[in-house]
Amino acid sequence: MNQYPYIITVSSEKGGVGKTTLATNLAVYLKALGEDLPVSIFSFDNHFTVDKMFGFAGQPLTGNVEDLLTGAPITELMHMGQFGVEYIPSSGKLSEIKNDIRGAMILAKLFAQSNLPGILIIDTRPELDILTQNALYAADRVIIPVKDSPSLENCKNIFDLFEQKGMNRKSLALIPCLIDSRVKFEGMFKDQKSLLKGFASSRGFRCYDNFIPKSPKVDSLNTNPDGRVYPILTNARGTEVHNQFSQFARTILAEYRETTEPRSLLYHQWLLAEDLRKRAEYETRLTGLQSHCLLCGESFSREGGVSRAFYFETSDGSSCGHLDESCYVKFLLATIHNLDQEFTPDDPTWVMFKNATSESAFAFRPRENGAGKVVEFYRFTLHGELLAQKSYPLKEKMGGMFSREKHPLHTLMVDTLEEQGGGFRDAFLFVQPINPEKPEAILTEENYRRFNRLKQQVSQQIS
Ligand SMILES: Nc1ncnc2c1ncn2[C@@H]1O[C@H](COP(=O)(O)OP(=O)(O)OP(=O)(O)O)[C@@H](O)[C@H]1O
Ligand SMILES: [Mg+2]
Repeated sequence: MNQYPYIITVSSEKGGVGKTTLATNLAVYLKALGEDLPVSIFSFDNHFTVDKMFGFAGQPLTGNVEDLLTGAPITELMHMGQFGVEYIPSSGKLSEIKNDIRGAMILAKLFAQSNLPGILIIDTRPELDILTQNALYAADRVIIPVKDSPSLENCKNIFDLFEQKGMNRKSLALIPCLIDSRVKFEGMFKDQKSLLKGFASSRGFRCYDNFIPKSPKVDSLNTNPDGRVYPILTNARGTEVHNQFSQFARTILAEYRETTEPRSLLYHQWLLAEDLRKRAEYETRLTGLQSHCLLCGESFSREGGVSRAFYFETSDGSSCGHLDESCYVKFLLATIHNLDQEFTPDDPTWVMFKNATSESAFAFRPRENGAGKVVEFYRFTLHGELLAQKSYPLKEKMGGMFSREKHPLHTLMVDTLEEQGGGFRDAFLFVQPINPEKPEAILTEENYRRFNRLKQQVSQQIS
């Protein structure tokens, strides 16, 4: 059965508020509370505290958080660390790859597909960059340490970000950190902790009952001759910090146990539903395709028949299909360029024209003007820039009074844009080159979205 991790992100834009101390020690306390509870951690920090606390001397390391962000499976990056906590080694190069990270849902997606059990804690850097945003969006619980008024003011940015993105602000909660219990005030708020809690609740921020006292002992656990970082649980028993961490870890564990559906599971379900929706939309588009080339009438289902090198769709979406490559190139040469002659496939004019056609998009718009029915023809780059524009009279038959041969431009317009009772709809026909090896690929979600964007751009210019 697949497993879905419960994610705790520790975040604050303010530096030095105790994020890393909180994240690493919380991992140790949570693991101590539940032997069978898998607890893992990684950090975007470049201080390597996670590695100094959980790594074993001489432990072979395979991969780090940088690999996580470039898509390596998360379970393969986990290393069994000290105190039973698994960790992903840190990286000092995250700022170099940060600009390549596209979007804030990358981690959420990775966790949804991770098969990672238990609780995963993420320690972030003191900025709301794309890495922190990823960690925030994936989180079931965001713990925001605050130590003073500036750090409390800074929380607003995280709350605002959640508001902007329509995310549930209930997952955000503050905890007063680095509280100096010797500082006392006169009046309603007697100490730093109650003052910060008062400020937080007046701003509508949820705050935990616990707090992390400032303790010289904690500071000393980071600085020692062997370059390690020691946990409070093993090295500062009997202190108020230990007492507060024990209680806080119990609160967090209770929250974890109450959560039947972590965000990673919900996101996994959403991804599945999205996949189904995309598949269904693709199938619908596929069934709407014309089965033959509108220019030569040849069926596309015939083995070794015509080559589907262009996709057409009317601007109102009511007619769509493919056009055979040489049919369409010949059609343009004859109707638009008046070059009604046969070319061999290696004729330089033909090759040049074919190449230019496969790098352009085209629009055909039937119109009535003073002189009668015309078709406005437009050629665009594949980025939507207009290259050429001209009007052509819309004749039903090819030249000559007694000619019975239908004019292909007329046939194309009638087949795609004619209204039921005659006349044309107020719409245009849009034609775009596609990959003949995969003619249906134009209908997949991303390609079709791109196609529609170009169609929209064209529409704005010719309407
Ligand atoms: N409860 C505490 N008592 C005393 N010192 C503490 C306490 N918590 C953290 N510190 C010290 O404060 C400093 C900053 O702590 P920490 O590295 O956890 O903060 P941070 O928010 O992760 O910092 P950064 O924003 O730089 O990542 C460290 O030197 C740490 O030892
Ligand atoms: Mg830190």
